[in-house]
Amino acid sequence: MGIYFRQQTEMAMPDVVIDGTLIPLLLKRPSTDAPRSDRSSRRLPLKGNAAASASASNTPSSIDGKNRLSSLRPIGQLAASAVKMRESTAEPAGTTEGDGASLTEKRAALKELLIKGCNRCPLAQHRRKFVFGAGNAGAPVVVIGEAPGREEDEQGLPFVGAAGQLLTSMLAAINLNRSDDVFITNVLKCRPPGNRNPETAEITACLPLLKRQIEIIGPRALLLLGRIAANAMFDTGDSVGKLRGKTLDYHGIPAMVIYHPAALLRNAAYKRPAWEDLQQFQKLLSTLGVYGSLRKK
Ligand code: URA
Repeated sequence: MGIYFRQQTEMAMPDVVIDGTLIPLLLKRPSTDAPRSDRSSRRLPLKGNAAASASASNTPSSIDGKNRLSSLRPIGQLAASAVKMRESTAEPAGTTEGDGASLTEKRAALKELLIKGCNRCPLAQHRRKFVFGAGNAGAPVVVIGEAPGREEDEQGLPFVGAAGQLLTSMLAAINLNRSDDVFITNVLKCRPPGNRNPETAEITACLPLLKRQIEIIGPRALLLLGRIAANAMFDTGDSVGKLRGKTLDYHGIPAMVIYHPAALLRNAAYKRPAWEDLQQFQKLLSTLGVYGSLRKK
């Protein structure tokens, strides 16, 4: 008996029926990590060799290292350099992203990362589903939340509960469609018991997988939801209040921090600043030539 793998569709991959024997591996607790000898450190492997990405979730990201909070640059400057980088590639816009991988190659690399799963911290023992992320593998925007909640853990998909519905509306307000224009994921791929805050060790264990996802997708911009995502990506303890409204530089990818939709649900006072920040993010995207598929013609 096979199972229809919904996450495939969410990642804009062809529908797939997976053999029943693989189900525990794929949806529950993927088997233990590959032995060290398999963990060759490879960069984006996408040129016709998606198999090379199989060890990626264990591979220290090639974009690890100090992030550059210290190198905050004005939005225009950062956007201009990103545009320049894009112009200098020979590939026509829309067919490839990142460092030249095709959409098919990105999908294959993400799929392999998904299938590999993760067992690197004890949260894997308690989860119902591994919540890898969902959306377009070639999306111009990667949206990063904190960790799956109860509904996400049940469905194996990110942001499907109340905060997820609000996130969908927030993205739509700036013309971004959740399936086409973004890839949504979290710092942690497994639900912390009782939705407690992620622990530092869990974030450390999970971060290479997130960084690898970003490396594969090669987005034009990152949208970081809340303190946990911002702190993890920029190795800082600063609050959202301090980080919001700035364009940060994540290894050359412009990134903005906004209040987490769950915070907006708890405290209406965050709604106005969140809306201002979203508008600023939209401005950044338009500077980069990204307009979102919901834009009215
Ligand atoms: N909150 C998050 O940060 N991520 C989810 O997937 C759902 C709620």
